[in-house]
Amino acid sequence: EWTPEAFVDMTVADLKEKIGDDKVVLGLSGGVDSTVAAVLLHKAIGKNLYCIFVNNGLLRKGEFESVLDQYKHMGLNVKGVDASARFLDALAGISDPEGKRKAIGKTFIEVFDDEAHLIQEVKYLAQGTIYPDVIESISVNGPSATIKSHHNVGGLPDFMKLKVVEPLRMLFKDEVRRVGAEMGIDKELLGRHPFPGPGLAIRILGDITAEKVRVLQEVDAIFIEGLKEWMLYDKVWQAGAILLPVNSVGVMGDERTYEKVVALRAVESTDGMTADWVNLPYEFLQKTSNTIINRVKGVNRVVYDISSKPPATIEWE
Ligand code: XMP
Repeated sequence: EWTPEAFVDMTVADLKEKIGDDKVVLGLSGGVDSTVAAVLLHKAIGKNLYCIFVNNGLLRKGEFESVLDQYKHMGLNVKGVDASARFLDALAGISDPEGKRKAIGKTFIEVFDDEAHLIQEVKYLAQGTIYPDVIESISVNGPSATIKSHHNVGGLPDFMKLKVVEPLRMLFKDEVRRVGAEMGIDKELLGRHPFPGPGLAIRILGDITAEKVRVLQEVDAIFIEGLKEWMLYDKVWQAGAILLPVNSVGVMGDERTYEKVVALRAVESTDGMTADWVNLPYEFLQKTSNTIINRVKGVNRVVYDISSKPPATIEWE
């Protein structure tokens, strides 16, 4: 029978033997998988695991600072790299969803490669790949094809030529969470909703500007904090806000306003392949909508997305 305890013991021993005194680089995302992979490797090789946490400027409000702090408290050898400006530059003027994903993927690779070069004689690249990722990449693209497509001009960046270590590649998500809990990782971190790699860029319809990111971060934070206060966060598989590229008319005092519309989305799912919109309490929606409109300058209308997947997707882009 599979137990997290036995998995940790066996994996740490294997990693120690395989890696020895060599150095490993790993990209932390703030998500469950990369964090659990990092803690496993840290147990096995300590400071020889070099973690890099990139701020692409598209994370949730305050997330880069708070998660980086958490990583440091966990004893990880982690470097936070704030590349927000570089990502915003790369995204300037791009409205097409796939165009955004490509720009973000390419920039991430460049930033990560620069950072990896600063570590002397690194031998391995560790990744938090889990079993469903393995299946998907083999069936859809062949292994690693997606990442490579960003860099099919001029060959692979150097970090991608490293030997790959994927300690979670045989595990499902719930097993990853159990392994994380077994190693003492904070429960709140392990219970976090999934968050897409391109972050808020695919929740801002149309082109991205620093101001739009700031507005959406405020709205998203009110929604997510509200879900936590109302004890709804753990009942929802994923939630977030979307900034729509339309203005609508409103009224404030005697003034007519013409400001942005945001949509709130909360879904139930097991794997993200199918999803149902969540029947959130009307009182909660009412309060959240009021708070958003009162507090976030530039937003005068809030709508709730009542579409399931399929045919809608979870993200709007
Ligand atoms: P969709 O919108 O396809 O989303 O129903 C399913 C799940 O995948 C996440 N998602 C992404 N994750 N890069 C990611 O790392 C992406 O480009 C991306 N697009 C969607 C989405 O948040 C949901 O959990």
